[in-house]
Amino acid sequence: MIQAYQKEETMADRISVLIPESTVDAKIKEIGEKISSDYAGKEVHLICILKGGVFFACELAKRITVPVSLDFMQVSSYGDGTKSSGIVRIKKDLDDSLEGKEVIIVEDIIDTGKTLHYLIPLLEHREPASIKLCALLSKPDRREVPIDIDYLGFDIPDEFVIGYGLDYAQKYRNLPFIGVIDPEEGLVEMDEKLTADDTDGEK
Ligand code: IMP
Ligand code: MG
Repeated sequence: MIQAYQKEETMADRISVLIPESTVDAKIKEIGEKISSDYAGKEVHLICILKGGVFFACELAKRITVPVSLDFMQVSSYGDGTKSSGIVRIKKDLDDSLEGKEVIIVEDIIDTGKTLHYLIPLLEHREPASIKLCALLSKPDRREVPIDIDYLGFDIPDEFVIGYGLDYAQKYRNLPFIGVIDPEEGLVEMDEKLTADDTDGEK
């Protein structure tokens, strides 16, 4: 699937486009339409996982035609500095109750799956009417715990991606496409970086 995307060089040849802006936008429109029809006659409560999910959540919300409310949560994983434990610390909790709501969690990417594996039961405990997961990207090869993704943009290979909310050391979130940094140019010790920094709150 990914191989079909044309790779373009940009930003002084350091960043390659993995999924172009038009392809991401078309996919978000498609997911928005699917959610709108699945939730016809209902309201949806989107929970955006900060910071990475914010660009996706905003674009997605614009494409949903049933009434939408939005709330935000920021999490990070406890770890020993080199390995994520999968235990999530809530850095910013939701403002509103979930009770009786049709909740959709909106995430940038599902990697090991540990964050959502911890978060979903925690949110289920708050008694929403339903809870579903929507992710722009997934790296199935990296999965350590099983996660059902109800609405998924793209499966991608095990590469470190940036853009559309995803960062490398807090940079590149604003890129309007999904990109990869050329390994020979940057991303030294990326494996260490990924495990050490765990989830979004720290990255
Ligand atoms: P996990 O599914 O618990 O392993 O963690 C997912 C989180 O790790 C995501 O929400 C991102 O913040 C971060 N992450 C995983 N892969 C990437 C990547 O390729 N680029 C940027 N952030 C990533
Ligand atoms: Mg994230």
